[in-house]
Amino acid sequence: MAFTGAGVSAESGVATFRGAGGLWEGQPVEEVATPAAFQADPDRVWRFYEQRRHSVARARPNPAHTVLAGWQDRFPTYTLATQNVDGLHQAAGSRDVLELHGSLWRVRCLSCGRDRYEPLVPLPQLPPRCATCGAMERPGVVWFGEFLPPGAIEAAQAAAGTCEVLVVVGTSAVVYPAAGLVGIAAAAGARVIEINPAESALAELADVVLRGPAGEMLPLVNERLREA
Ligand code: OAD
Repeated sequence: MAFTGAGVSAESGVATFRGAGGLWEGQPVEEVATPAAFQADPDRVWRFYEQRRHSVARARPNPAHTVLAGWQDRFPTYTLATQNVDGLHQAAGSRDVLELHGSLWRVRCLSCGRDRYEPLVPLPQLPPRCATCGAMERPGVVWFGEFLPPGAIEAAQAAAGTCEVLVVVGTSAVVYPAAGLVGIAAAAGARVIEINPAESALAELADVVLRGPAGEMLPLVNERLREA
């Protein structure tokens, strides 16, 4: 199983959330990524997400995404769970990605609940409106204080509880319940391999730590696997 965070897309030019230059720096989370923020000022929240859609639309998958996509053909019971909303795993060819925090490329109607794929950048209308009922739509991402998509988190927890090896890539591992996947895997006896150039909250849980950028470390790991 692989579990990824913003760091896996850093070498594609997508900003991470925490740390210097991170997305949440100078942009208080509660002003853009909570249901209350959206209720108070949907235009502002939509402008933030439209900006992210613009920057991610220009980004291309990097070698880390490519290696993680390749494992689905090599390991029959492989699961890829991500906290990322950028769609770069899918762009690299990954199928059935468990998107724990939703996707920048989906929008959902606030009134009838219709959920749809919306790839257009820029959006033809901001905020977008539902073609079925005319109500305002919201970004298809998970905000702070909201539940994760039940199908995705349940499938990820089940995979974590039965996997042999969990490769954790580019996450600070501080946002729950997603970060809890690592504890589930470790408690069930999996080997935990962390790839991250900096220290994270996983110090106690990782059996192996590869301190380097994902785009360099994962191709190296893959080469070793090929020799094995
Ligand atoms: P963070 O920004 O918290 O952490 C990014 C991690 O990536 C850090 O630990 C960095 O050290 C690491 N990193 C940076 N460059 C890297 C590289 N080239 N290769 C590998 N790792 C690298 O991002 P997440 O852990 O993904 O949630 O954040 C989790 C959640 O918090 C996000 O999904 C988002 C955010 O608030 C929601 O919006 C609900």
